[in-house]
Amino acid sequence: MNLPTTLGQARQYGVQCLKASSPSATIDAEYLLEKASGQPRLRFRSHPEATLSQSAWQAYEALLKRRASGEPVAYCLGQRGFMDFTLTVSPAVLIPRPETEHLITTALHYPSEQILDLGTGSGCVAIALARAWPQAQVDAVDQSATALACAQQNAEQLGVAHITFKQGDWYAPVSGHRYDLIVANPPYIADFEPHPDQGDARFEPRGALRAGPTGLESITPIIDGAQSHLHPRGWLWLEHGHAQAQAVRDQLATAGFTAIATHHDLAGHERISGGQRNV
Ligand SMILES: C[S@@+](CC[C@H](N)C(=O)[O-])C[C@H]1O[C@@H](n2cnc3c(N)ncnc32)[C@H](O)[C@@H]1O
Repeated sequence: MNLPTTLGQARQYGVQCLKASSPSATIDAEYLLEKASGQPRLRFRSHPEATLSQSAWQAYEALLKRRASGEPVAYCLGQRGFMDFTLTVSPAVLIPRPETEHLITTALHYPSEQILDLGTGSGCVAIALARAWPQAQVDAVDQSATALACAQQNAEQLGVAHITFKQGDWYAPVSGHRYDLIVANPPYIADFEPHPDQGDARFEPRGALRAGPTGLESITPIIDGAQSHLHPRGWLWLEHGHAQAQAVRDQLATAGFTAIATHHDLAGHERISGGQRNV
């Protein structure tokens, strides 16, 4: 195929480039062309004859190369939609997942004034809850300084001022503080599971995905520390792997939680579990 000079040709060229490496070649190419050309995707079909500038073509080709090497579209674009807003994302942070939207919709049943988000990454959970509850004070913790910088940038871009970002190991930066609601989407993939080393996930931070030998190594300290960081009748809600729900419920019970429950994700997997501090 000759080098494209129009939007329609560029779209087609991109699909061909990505066909072998991406199962979503058409939509990937359209998103990348949208970023490179500054033109809305609809225009690729309504005005396929519109010309593509030399600089847009060069930017597009560079993005296609990145995607063809396996880099996730969200990192190529530098952004990902989550709930009803758009987040800046970089390889310093996990790309927010649709499953995590269930953590938000679960947490929204427990209106709270003091909230702790453990392992905030891009800040998606903290920002979603802070936007829903403008009167709340949200603390957001991550051990990664580069993730926290990204989360802080997202909060600023979205005009959310009532989140305090803190660096450290789970509860260490909030020692002595208590909350009405603790939420977490911690790393929960076991060392033996292959998928972080496959496909798009290869580009995401290891420390956001892998927990340790069993996959429960991050969940356990979060559950163990929750009672002493919750107000009486406060709630803890966690995202976890689809095969971990029983283990998480058992740990919640051992830690003294009541009203323990699990919610399913859109694929029907047990994904979000939590409970209430009794006294
Ligand atoms: C699965 S990612 C979740 C990111 C974001 N909350 C989301 O839902 O997309 C887990 C996050 O936990 C952070 N993390 C891992 N171990 C941690 C620890 N010991 N203390 C604090 N944060 C940790 C990682 O840096 C990563 O940002």
